[in-house]
Amino acid sequence: MLFGAATAAYQIEGAWDEAGKGRSIWDDYVRVPGAIENGDTGDVACDHYHRYREDVALMADLGLDAYRFSISWPRVLPEGSGRVEQRGLDFYDRLVDELLANGIRPWVTLYHWDLPSALYARGGWESPECVEWFAEYANVVAERLGDRVKDWMTLNEPEVVAFAGYAWGQHAPGARDPARAVRVSHGLLNAHAAGLDALRAAVPDARLGIALNVSPVEPATDSEEDAAAARRVDGQLNRWFLDAVFARGYPGDMVEWYGWDRPAATPATPDFVGVNYYFRRIVRAADNFLGADQVEVTGVPTSDMGWEIHPDGLFEILARVRDEYAPAAIAVTENGIALEGIDDPGRVAYLGDHIERARKIADAYFVWSLLDNFEWAWGYRMRFGIVHVDFETQQRTVKTSGRWYAERIRAR
Ligand code: FCB
Repeated sequence: MLFGAATAAYQIEGAWDEAGKGRSIWDDYVRVPGAIENGDTGDVACDHYHRYREDVALMADLGLDAYRFSISWPRVLPEGSGRVEQRGLDFYDRLVDELLANGIRPWVTLYHWDLPSALYARGGWESPECVEWFAEYANVVAERLGDRVKDWMTLNEPEVVAFAGYAWGQHAPGARDPARAVRVSHGLLNAHAAGLDALRAAVPDARLGIALNVSPVEPATDSEEDAAAARRVDGQLNRWFLDAVFARGYPGDMVEWYGWDRPAATPATPDFVGVNYYFRRIVRAADNFLGADQVEVTGVPTSDMGWEIHPDGLFEILARVRDEYAPAAIAVTENGIALEGIDDPGRVAYLGDHIERARKIADAYFVWSLLDNFEWAWGYRMRFGIVHVDFETQQRTVKTSGRWYAERIRAR
């Protein structure tokens, strides 16, 4: 079992307009009044762009085997396509060298949500051109880092990108148009396929994956309506993406529900599936585009986000991915909990219980997250790190859970 920690560019880097970086839809979205709690932005975040050496030293102290991070597309291609910003590539080049010098394996995600604004203006994931843009970006990054980086993921959580961003209006670009969300999911899946091809061509000995936010879904009651609602949530969250990637086409029930009248996305079977798991979904029928709603759980342990703590759900979804899709490998690419405090026994328990489940099936496990960071619409209030960050001073303090994780890795 490989043990690591994960982050994403927009959530930690800061330096939002430095060294020729272009704007992303998150740079724009955080400036929409009311979009983010407390008016927080990722302009500075953990200032990781300037403090990456210190952060890699922390990882080395913790004894991490691997570090999953994402590349900021507009840092590398300010307009999304065309002109390459060498200073952007240089940053990731230095980061990769620093990791390798410390014996830490870099796992790179190409797209963790920061679409270049220039591409959004040209239709973004809804444009048929998104496939070429993404392949071009994948190629630029792989040509520069592929001699040293062998573990790659195309996309992080395309379901969240599409539906939180374009249907529920919670994430950039903040749209509330379900038909757009479905088109975006299709564009993302096609881009994933093109990205896999580009990566394979540039780095023939790489292991290629995609990180999906899959999860068990259960109806809140035993009514017919809630069972049907759970089936639709399962369709949107799990089957739409897994079926398409594993060359089964889109699931028929969802094709009908969405009124999708085009072929399925190009299949592109990855070498590994990355599972991002936080909690199981308990749903009931509701009056919205999906005809389904998540129930707020009561009387069970939850995180600061109100997410149920349910470690068996991780085993359940890993087993399902293994049994129904038979990928060559499965990694837990994100798992963690929002909790206040530097002394965080609740996080120790959460991680311990989930690692026990993960071990049975996955060959890698990444804690979300290395650092407290910019938690999207929640801003800085929700803290997921095993390392505490004081956002006034940028001081890092290893939490009780960070020390525990270091021990767990050593004791393996
Ligand atoms: C996931 C995201 C990650 C982080 C965690 C809490 O959906 O991939 O960036 O925000 O949730």
